[in-house]
Amino acid sequence: MAEPIKVTSQRYRLGYHLMTPGGWMNDPNGFSFFKGWYHIFYQYYPYKAEWGPMHWGHARSRDLIHWETLPTALAPDSEENGCFSGSAVVYDDKLWLIYTGHHTPNARDPEDFYQDQRVAWSEDGIHFTKYGANPVLQTPQDNTKHFRDPKVWQQDGKFYMVLGSQGLDHLGRALVYSSDNLLSWQLVTELSKAKDKESEGYMWECPDFFHLDGQDILLMSPQGLEAQGDLYRNLNQTGYLMGHVNPETKKLERGGFVEIDHGHDFYATQTMLAPDGRRVMIAWMNAWDSPMYEVEDGWAGALTLPRELHVKSGRLYQQPVAEVSMLREQELFHGAPAQDKAYALGRKAELQLTFKRPAAGQLLLLTDGEKTLQLSLEPDTHRFVVNRNTEDGERAAQLSASDELKLQIFLDKSSAEIFVNDGELTFTERVYWQGDVQAKVLTDAANQAQAWRLEAEANQY
Ligand code: FRU
Repeated sequence: MAEPIKVTSQRYRLGYHLMTPGGWMNDPNGFSFFKGWYHIFYQYYPYKAEWGPMHWGHARSRDLIHWETLPTALAPDSEENGCFSGSAVVYDDKLWLIYTGHHTPNARDPEDFYQDQRVAWSEDGIHFTKYGANPVLQTPQDNTKHFRDPKVWQQDGKFYMVLGSQGLDHLGRALVYSSDNLLSWQLVTELSKAKDKESEGYMWECPDFFHLDGQDILLMSPQGLEAQGDLYRNLNQTGYLMGHVNPETKKLERGGFVEIDHGHDFYATQTMLAPDGRRVMIAWMNAWDSPMYEVEDGWAGALTLPRELHVKSGRLYQQPVAEVSMLREQELFHGAPAQDKAYALGRKAELQLTFKRPAAGQLLLLTDGEKTLQLSLEPDTHRFVVNRNTEDGERAAQLSASDELKLQIFLDKSSAEIFVNDGELTFTERVYWQGDVQAKVLTDAANQAQAWRLEAEANQY
């Protein structure tokens, strides 16, 4: 048996974002709460810092912030070439995992694959047993081979599953199935389908469906959108369709696709309903087309901070969960910041700034002398710009008008998460800082700044 790969350098290891103990990570999976613990699983390849036959890595937490890595929950068996993305649900005092079996019967051609849906369960939330009669759901006739990423929830005494799928017309769509026992599933509806490939994609990965603040929301990661100005600049996007399910047709009557994060490094979201009713979302803090310099060090990929979702003015807003304030170890400064003065943040910090509107032009520079992140707001168009000064380093989005501009920024050893105006816009970036970071406010319109040094090692590996 091969040995899991070991991490060879700490230079980019994150302080409070969850990573693998070594090896590759992509999508978060199975975000759930069971017997007093939050659980998160993730697409994991333990043997190399690159994508390979997918396992499910696993960690648990009492508070959504401090994670303890647990043994690998799922590994591909002789019937599977990968345990692809899926979700978890509590039923009958057990934690059930519902995942996609990925199969490549022709070893010479990885593109010759099929996918089906499978289950496993655990009584202790640590050791999982796969169901002996898997799969529980096979690809329907009117579908291509793309049929994956089940997200299951319980509602009115039944289980429902939303699945990422591609119809025979090569458009992305979300199918909904229902079940009484998680083992036998019936199709309920094609909930929604892409209008066309260019604007809504040829395949929808990692769908998630929930009701929030009076709206029905289908969150998903479409593939194949074409860049249009500031929109859809990454290889694949993540975003949502918002509206209402028509009770007769069972279709989502909805508006167009809206991107949920505007940074370079954000993909494959998953939400969970916390015991206190909050809708909490987490995502892969990378993207398929983004460079990952930690690969040289024996690991790859991380998850974002958990973010609480709300609908406001017809849009999804994201805020870091309140528990994030537990990470604050020491206040670094507090008060009105002087223009162009450098404030030391270190490598793991939270920075909050408020500006008078219309503050516009250059707002903030974060720099370690080598790597930079520059934030600005264009005065008339309200175009909010984040530039990481790499090739194709700029990302931008439209901010609505308001009297005040608020920024909340989380720096970690090789990342930055930026929340603008209480989460109206977010930008998630991997920035491979080479040293301590300083913040320079580039305008005299900032009223308030506050910063904290954050806990250096919040997770156990
Ligand atoms: C999304 C994705 C999923 C799939 C998984 C495989 O990033 O492509 O659709 O289940 O990754 O690792």
